[in-house]
Amino acid sequence: MSSNSVHLLSFITLILIMVTNAYGVVDEYVRDDFPADFVFGAGTSAYQYEGAVLEDGRTYSIWDTLAHYSGNNIYNGANGDVACDGYHKYKEDIELMVDTGLEALRFSVSWSRLIPNGRGPVNLKGLQYYNDFIDILISHGIQPHITLHHSDLPQILEDEYGGWLSRKSVKDFVAYADVCFREFGDRVLHWTTFNEANVFALGGYDLGVLPPGRCSYPFGYINCTNGGDSTSEPYIVGHHLLLAHASTVRLYRKKYKATQHGFIGINIFAYWYNLDSNTIEDEKAAERAHDFYEGWFLNPLVYGDYPEIMKKNAGSRIPNFTKQESERIKGSFDFVGVNHYDTISIKNNPSSFEMETRDMYADMAATLIVNGTDMFPTQSEITPLGLQKLLNYLKEKYGNPPIYIHENGQGQPRNGTLIDTPRVEYLHAYIGAVLDAIRNGSNTMGYFTWSFLDLFEMLSGYKTSYGLYYVDLDDKELTRYPKLSAHWYASFLKGKNMSGIFENVNSQETLSSSY
Ligand code: FCB
Repeated sequence: MSSNSVHLLSFITLILIMVTNAYGVVDEYVRDDFPADFVFGAGTSAYQYEGAVLEDGRTYSIWDTLAHYSGNNIYNGANGDVACDGYHKYKEDIELMVDTGLEALRFSVSWSRLIPNGRGPVNLKGLQYYNDFIDILISHGIQPHITLHHSDLPQILEDEYGGWLSRKSVKDFVAYADVCFREFGDRVLHWTTFNEANVFALGGYDLGVLPPGRCSYPFGYINCTNGGDSTSEPYIVGHHLLLAHASTVRLYRKKYKATQHGFIGINIFAYWYNLDSNTIEDEKAAERAHDFYEGWFLNPLVYGDYPEIMKKNAGSRIPNFTKQESERIKGSFDFVGVNHYDTISIKNNPSSFEMETRDMYADMAATLIVNGTDMFPTQSEITPLGLQKLLNYLKEKYGNPPIYIHENGQGQPRNGTLIDTPRVEYLHAYIGAVLDAIRNGSNTMGYFTWSFLDLFEMLSGYKTSYGLYYVDLDDKELTRYPKLSAHWYASFLKGKNMSGIFENVNSQETLSSSY
């Protein structure tokens, strides 16, 4: 190497050290470093936010049932009956969104509030709620990004034909989506069919920890007293979700796209994996885990079929697509929504092939190691390079699809603290990782932190919280209070330079100056 190139190399290294932080991602950035049409927001979902579960005609969804199911200890007896009471307090919350400078809100429509019988007549009160919600958001310049299904199939359809286990669900879902496009599509441009399609199928039908809480021994994380077959049901449900998604996109494109000009996608959950040991076996295990988690949905969507490894290892337990289905699924998305929280370790697990029966994790033949051993940690570690690598991986493997980070945030024990410094540090690092990924050519178009305010949480009820705003459950008004992270996000969205700002931000003072 010539001495000139040595100099150049040390110069580049120096620059990199200066601009990246201890997490290896860019440290100093401002809102305007992102493309002008990039959008920043926060998220909620209907069951986790609205409450009012039997009010104005709403009926139960499978999530209500799981939360009320006697003997289930996932939520320690808690449920979403009241949640944040968003059904009554949404106007006040939108004010807070305006204060925070949100550019977009990701939320979901409750199918059983809009169409209480699962199919058929529309509930006018439910319709009015969402119309009003959307109108107020838009009047403040906040884009609505709607998810149609966030783990809350109407219970009536679960009872009638077994919900997503039956192909009948496809037709009912498309009809429900049709109502949403017809009623809200004049104002809503961003639609997501399913939240975490992969985790919904795995959590709800293999581990049993998510609605509808089905699993079979020895695979469940709970006592599998609610019925189920972990060896096959996740694959069947995943299949129906893909068919429902593709038919919905087809409907939107045929009937609404020309007049409404919106975009439609699906959402999946993704980890990034570090290898437990630097071996080819663990490297292959990581590849399989990516195929089983993301590839399960993205391979059909981009290439028209399940990943080869899934077909091989699951055999006849994973359904086939007909030629026509495969053609309909291929290309049926305008963007991919990604929920990402953690980097975890992965280890090859060949012994799972010796089991008499296998579930999806056994087919994957890989052990996921989250924070040591705990599969569901209460506080995510800060590993933003994982997100950057994930975005790069999706770019390389699936032809650089448009991506929205639909969820990213840090869970913390819900103990009332407003000084959530680790969350600020988390957000600062992960948003930096997104910027780095974009600079490396990723087609990422938006970032939504989970969650706007403390919600009824998917795996822990009210024990963990992700919110920028604290909701005081001991106060019958459920008063909201901004956390440090709300101040930080507001400052960022209002254009401040974010280098190390979390050290200087201290509660009220910074909030008022940032507003
Ligand atoms: C995701 C869910 C979301 C939320 C977070 C913490 O899996 O989509 O509703 O509860 O986890």
